[in-house]
Amino acid sequence: MVRPSLAILLVLAHAVFGTAYRWFNWQYEVTCESDAYIAPDDEEAVAKFLHEQFVEGSHIKVVGNGHGFGNLTQCVDQTLTKKQSYIVSLTNLKELHIHKNNMTVTFGAGWDVNDLAEELKANDLSFNSLGVERVQNFVGAASTGTHGSGSSMGNIASQIIGLRVLDSQGNLRVINEKNNAEELKAFRISLGALGLITEMTIKVIPTYRVKKTTKVLNATSDYSKMYSQIAELYKEHDRMTVWGPHFDWNAETQDWDLEATYFLSYWEPTDYAGASNCTLNYCANGCGDCKKEYICYDEVIDSVSCPPQGVCNREFYAEIEHFLPIEYYAEAATNYTLFQQSQTPRMKAPYNQQMVIQHRTLKGDDTYMSPVNTYNLDPKLSGVFAIIEIDWIQEYDNFTTLWQNQELAFEFLPQFGETYNVRPHWNKMSPANATYTQEKFPKLPEFLAIQQRQDPKCQFVNEFLVSQLGIARCARYLS
Ligand SMILES: Cc1cc2nc3c(=O)[nH]c(=O)nc-3n(C[C@H](O)[C@H](O)[C@H](O)COP(=O)(O)OP(=O)(O)OC[C@H]3O[C@@H](n4cnc5c(N)ncnc54)[C@H](O)[C@@H]3O)c2cc1C
Ligand SMILES: *[C@@H]1O[C@H](CO)[C@@H](O)[C@H](O)[C@H]1NC(C)=O
Ligand SMILES: *[C@@H]1O[C@H](CO)[C@@H](O)[C@H](O)[C@H]1NC(C)=O
Ligand SMILES: *[C@@H]1O[C@H](CO)[C@@H](O)[C@H](O)[C@H]1NC(C)=O
Ligand SMILES: *[C@@H]1O[C@H](CO)[C@@H](O)[C@H](O)[C@H]1NC(C)=O
Ligand SMILES: *[C@@H]1O[C@H](CO)[C@@H](O)[C@H](O)[C@H]1NC(C)=O
Ligand SMILES: *[C@@H]1O[C@H](CO)[C@@H](O)[C@H](O)[C@H]1NC(C)=O
Ligand SMILES: *[C@@H]1O[C@H](CO)[C@@H](O)[C@H](O)[C@H]1NC(C)=O
Repeated sequence: MVRPSLAILLVLAHAVFGTAYRWFNWQYEVTCESDAYIAPDDEEAVAKFLHEQFVEGSHIKVVGNGHGFGNLTQCVDQTLTKKQSYIVSLTNLKELHIHKNNMTVTFGAGWDVNDLAEELKANDLSFNSLGVERVQNFVGAASTGTHGSGSSMGNIASQIIGLRVLDSQGNLRVINEKNNAEELKAFRISLGALGLITEMTIKVIPTYRVKKTTKVLNATSDYSKMYSQIAELYKEHDRMTVWGPHFDWNAETQDWDLEATYFLSYWEPTDYAGASNCTLNYCANGCGDCKKEYICYDEVIDSVSCPPQGVCNREFYAEIEHFLPIEYYAEAATNYTLFQQSQTPRMKAPYNQQMVIQHRTLKGDDTYMSPVNTYNLDPKLSGVFAIIEIDWIQEYDNFTTLWQNQELAFEFLPQFGETYNVRPHWNKMSPANATYTQEKFPKLPEFLAIQQRQDPKCQFVNEFLVSQLGIARCARYLS
């Protein structure tokens, strides 16, 4: 007897009882009502589900852990369509194969970054690159270009050497460096638009220890001077993150007060063999007692990123994160900060708490939809990108303040995008418009050709994908 899969049971349950499932992202700012939450047991069950839903043309949104800002990971709301709309999670796909012979790890789409990090550490292995938080699903993180900091280091997706993906009809494609290396450049960062990735293979490295050095610097409102100094420091340190300047909301003056100091950390390999001590203070994420001069030693994963218990900030926040050629960094950071200050008068609202500007770097790559793709880069430039992030942090979860800060966040791209060849972080309120996307991602037509093959009936798209990627073919996906 064939055991009916969980997915099929859920679909049946829906038909009989009219169940619904409301999706929320991590801070409840993005939501949608779907018909059901489907979590198939294995790849075969996913394929079967897709195969059946293809006939109906159902809307399907595959999700990771919802750790994003903005509407990339949003299902088609039930109220907008006569078709069924599903949230699909591959959380049950938990196979794992570690191959030390060729330093590769193959794992199912259910693996979260933190669990995978622990597994690698237990096997004396490490990632080539990692973000500062590990709360994401690995496929979800890779699919939007998640990254850490390092001028000779790529983003998380750059370590992917192969994957298995199901198209909307449930057909499997195996894509790797030997078997269609060109398409791998499309699938490494696929924004959930090219099908359901069931498995990934990444290149790993032997783990190693690093020394982390944290320094306190004096802030100055002469931003040009401050950011020129930071630009010089990035020439000295390959792997560095700058946390600051910090501004605190002054309720009396209704203005942002610049904190007197900020800090930076840089990492370098070490042969120090004594006790590990970076996890005593989880400052990888700017949380903890960070603004002080100290050094620590640790295994690289634990030194550059923090596990969930190291994440201090769970409040509502608005955020922008922009990538631009490092040659433009000092001037751009100055102009971003001055633009923010010119807009402060409209931020008058309760519940503002702190504003933090962060600075990182990343090596460019050839992934089609990568924010650090080098396809439109002037060859005179180095191919290293600077990353400017601004976080507006609230002390209380108030939607009015959040929306207001997000409105402002959206304005940085129109202001600076063209001047500095800026590419926004996917899943961090990226929108500009399809014209802009085409300009900054010259391989978009190739990406969309694959999207058409993988999703001929436009079942995987949503408002974000159709409008931001300009998928004209899917303009009427709701009808
Ligand atoms: C508090 C916080 C801290 C963060 N820190 C960093 C950081 O340090 N560095 C950084 O670069 N980013 C950071 N981010 C951004 C974050 O890494 C990305 O938004 C990431 O995409 C979230 O992963 P997720 O699994 O939670 O995402 P989701 O939003 O659930 O998914 C992301 C995308 O992946 C797609 N997807 C998921 N699973 C599959 C699958 N199996 N097959 C095909 N597509 C799939 C989804 O459809 C969606 O398009 C942070 C975000 C937050 C909220
Ligand atoms: C997300 O989509 C909803 C509905 O389309 C819209 O009201 C909201 O402003 C969007 N949010 C963001 C951050 O884009
Ligand atoms: C790595 O080795 C494993 C086990 O021998 C093998 O199955 C796999 O195909 C190899 N992968 C690559 C990318 O060579
Ligand atoms: C910061 O300023 C203080 C005095 O206010 C000074 O003692 C210190 O050396 C300065 N630090 C740096 C890194 O310039
Ligand atoms: C970590 O250990 C080193 C070596 O003993 C020491 O110099 C350093 O101060 C320690 N750092 C912390 C944060 O405890
Ligand atoms: C940025 O700053 C430079 C130098 O201060 C100035 O000339 C330029 O007009 C500014 N550009 C933008 C887009 O604000
Ligand atoms: C959120 O803040 C606004 C003012 O900006 C206020 O009108 C509203 O009542 C607040 N909401 C909550 C739930 O506190
Ligand atoms: C598209 O976005 C870019 C960057 O924000 C902006 O400069 C341009 O004016 C926009 N074009 C349209 C047609 O809205």
